[in-house]
Amino acid sequence: MGSSNLMLNSSISSIIDHSSLFNKINKGRFNNHGCWRISASINVETVGTKLGLTKSEEIMAAEAKVIVGTYARVPIVLASGKGCKLYDVEGREYLDMTSGIAVNALGHADSDWVNAVKEQADVLAHVSNIYYSREQVDLATRLVECSFADRVFFSNSGTEANEAAIKFARKFQRTMYPKEEHPPVEFISFTNSFHGRTLGALALTSKKNYRIPFEPVMPGVTFLEYGDTQAATEMIQRGKTAAVFVEPIQGEGGIYSATKEFLQSLRSACDDVGALLVFDEVQCGLGRTGYLWAHEAYGVFPDIMTLAKPLAGGLPIGAVLVTERVASAIEYGDHGSTFAGSPAVCKPALVVLEKIMKPEFLASVAKKGKYLKELLVQKMGGNSHVREIRGLGLIVGIELDVPASPLVDACRNSGLLILTAGKGNVVRLVPPLVISEEELERAADILSECLPVLN
Ligand SMILES: Cc1ncc(COP(=O)(O)O)c(C=O)c1O
Repeated sequence: MGSSNLMLNSSISSIIDHSSLFNKINKGRFNNHGCWRISASINVETVGTKLGLTKSEEIMAAEAKVIVGTYARVPIVLASGKGCKLYDVEGREYLDMTSGIAVNALGHADSDWVNAVKEQADVLAHVSNIYYSREQVDLATRLVECSFADRVFFSNSGTEANEAAIKFARKFQRTMYPKEEHPPVEFISFTNSFHGRTLGALALTSKKNYRIPFEPVMPGVTFLEYGDTQAATEMIQRGKTAAVFVEPIQGEGGIYSATKEFLQSLRSACDDVGALLVFDEVQCGLGRTGYLWAHEAYGVFPDIMTLAKPLAGGLPIGAVLVTERVASAIEYGDHGSTFAGSPAVCKPALVVLEKIMKPEFLASVAKKGKYLKELLVQKMGGNSHVREIRGLGLIVGIELDVPASPLVDACRNSGLLILTAGKGNVVRLVPPLVISEEELERAADILSECLPVLN
């Protein structure tokens, strides 16, 4: 184990108290640290940090000491992946039906994506949005070409994309009502919705447990029953509603698909009163349903669409796609991000987008999604705990009448990674979109073999 030397040689140490740093790094070995000139040697071993841990148990134990405890993690430590297979640090293999929560659409270590990451890192990774970069313009151009949108704003995550959409909706309404002291500022969201963890997106997220510890979140959000066209038509109001946020297919909420009538009613209610319709396709967008955009399955189009998860193949990205009408309300300085739209992220994202948007790729997702549902119905449909198998393309939910976690654990022990959703009673399957039919068969076999743990 090597050691590092830190020289604190400071003439301003009289105004900066270094004592807490020294107490921490030397665990009490040095006591006379409050002097004018400080010179200390820190041995990394004395800090108590053993880097380069190799065993799962060691890594999990170390995590518990240094990472803020926001995640109830699954007890495996993943080390590598290829295609739809993941390997832990002990070399155990897992079939991945999670894709890093609907992110790794091309699977792990797709060679075109890897090359794009490496090539761009070699040339230019980040420039900030003070400067232009070709990669950002290329990606935005392609997104505009293949969607309803005229312009794109890049962010770094799904929640940030929704924050931007909230601000854009507010600014749009302010521009529409320039003389009004109180322009429309309120939002409509729905039961089982999930839009993110930052305070604006969180305010639009239905699960109370996520919101209550952090209240007050953004005010002015009304939650309506997902699918209730009448309530939506009554509550979307002129002079009040700035925008309606909806997932065409709800992911975290339990894999619930909207009906065409529902989305159409939202569209016409928004049009009637001048509100904006925002589709959150962070999870269901970009090929997952077998359509490039989930809303294409319904033939209903939004004013704003938010994207994230799969767009850069595992690198952090978010995107807000807007019509010219919305974009024209946004001015310099209204919003921004240091990292967003960097060449390092946009170049691989373009590779992902080009692959996914190919008609034959989308057709294969639709076909495999249908096959997966057939397999699940055939192998699991007869089990008394299985209430419903639903979804579109490769976003599939298996609703149970009991908590799904014992099944998730049993599947993992048999080498299959799956997710839960909803109130914990829905198994969520969001595999890489490149998964093979053989891999789907294997997944369905393991799921059905593990079903007895629910008894
Ligand atoms: C529909 C939807 N919107 C927003 C988000 C938030 O995305 P992120 O975790 O990248 O902030 C998620 C994440 O699961 C999501 O499923």
